[in-house]
Amino acid sequence: MKNYPLSEKQVRSYNESTKRINIWEGSVRSGKSFISILRFIKELKDGPPGHAMVIGPTRDSIQRNFLAEFCSLLALPIPTPKSTQMCIFDRTIHLVGASDERSQRRIQGSTLAMAYVDELTLIPQGFFKMLLSRLSVPGARLLGTTNPDSPFHWLKTEFLSNDTLDLASWKFRIEDNPSLDEQYITSLKNEYQGLWYKRYIEGDWVLAEGTVFEFFDEEKHTIDYPTKRGEYYIVGVDYGTTNPTAFVMIGYNRTHFPNIWCEKEYYYDSKVHKRQKTDTEFAEDLKEFIKDYNVRSIYIDPSAASFRLELSRNGIDLVEEADNDVMNGIRFHSQLLANGTYKVSQNCRNTIREYATYVWDIKASERGEDKPVKANDHAMDATRYALFSHFGQDIDGTLKPEDIDKMFYSSQGYQNIPSVFQQPHETSGHAMGPFR
Ligand SMILES: Nc1ncnc2c1ncn2[C@@H]1O[C@H](COP(=O)(O)OP(=O)(O)OP(=O)(O)O)[C@@H](O)[C@H]1O
Ligand SMILES: [Mg+2]
Repeated sequence: MKNYPLSEKQVRSYNESTKRINIWEGSVRSGKSFISILRFIKELKDGPPGHAMVIGPTRDSIQRNFLAEFCSLLALPIPTPKSTQMCIFDRTIHLVGASDERSQRRIQGSTLAMAYVDELTLIPQGFFKMLLSRLSVPGARLLGTTNPDSPFHWLKTEFLSNDTLDLASWKFRIEDNPSLDEQYITSLKNEYQGLWYKRYIEGDWVLAEGTVFEFFDEEKHTIDYPTKRGEYYIVGVDYGTTNPTAFVMIGYNRTHFPNIWCEKEYYYDSKVHKRQKTDTEFAEDLKEFIKDYNVRSIYIDPSAASFRLELSRNGIDLVEEADNDVMNGIRFHSQLLANGTYKVSQNCRNTIREYATYVWDIKASERGEDKPVKANDHAMDATRYALFSHFGQDIDGTLKPEDIDKMFYSSQGYQNIPSVFQQPHETSGHAMGPFR
């Protein structure tokens, strides 16, 4: 690892993290984990005697987001992904994934001298409260990092904004990481749009409100013809009986731009046609839809079990249950659009309409929960199922921005885009030059 001097914010937070609760919050890649891990190493060495605990949303995420950096700083081998303990400076460190409220049981009854929590907002609130009660050794400290979430998230309302607690926090911005060069920062900024730009780049706790794809622009994000030049295709299916059923045909080509595009759509709204279709009719329509295309996989709404059965009865194989992680799926979809990797063919009118009408659920936002309204979401869901399940399939557990980045890069045909493709659009709707 190349050595950089610590930034002023890093030094200050290191020196000031002497409270019972110490939280590094802010933008992605802003150097929060790096400095908080250094501080945790100091706690391990000099803190009060007793056990330590490292907590992440899952055991896998601890491996990726904590242990890699921690072990590299200490020049130690990384423990195996299943190990639940390690011992450093004669201190036992427990490694605990807190994926749901039930994981609280894993810490009940323990007495801790220190804890490190990666990605605090993804830890169940009950677990966090239990953890604080376990930090009962005199002088015990909690160190934690997080990216911002909703301003109504419990971490913000009950902890960060509560001045009566023995708590210190620091807001980090990308500029607070001394190791990033300008080009990397620019490309990072281009990757996030809408809600995630505000949270992950600007580092602000903002509500999910308005349209989900608020940055969607027909000029930039569409191509004016179906290309039919995919190396292969994938299909996303959102199935509905009273609600519309949507299929999208998504092409992939490593060497042409855009690398990924929605070539055509199928959209059947029984309310408009005043007639519901049977599963057999939808299966026939899907057969017709994929005819003559080199389709590799069909990703289908995981709740549509009966339709899946009908498809296999009709000899349509290649069907897979879609990954239905809504927030990470939307974030991935946004990223592909924002970067210009993914475009939508002009003939997909329902899909384009949904980009403008798919909105965040403001009532849920006010409860601190991010989710879109379940309306005008059929082509959006079908697209998400296909893009996220297919190009994001390697990573399990709770995803962090860097995991999404890794998936993003692996879904792109080119990592070093020739400069000719980096020119802005000269004419609207042209297939060339997706990178703005
Ligand atoms: N002072 C520094 N010297 C050298 N490398 C650094 C320094 N600060 C940060 N880095 C490196 O920059 C990268 C991003 O930093 P870090 O992981 O701490 O960001 P983060 O704020 O935790 O981001 P995220 O919100 O995405 O988890 C890491 O690879 C880290 O090793
Ligand atoms: Mg981090």
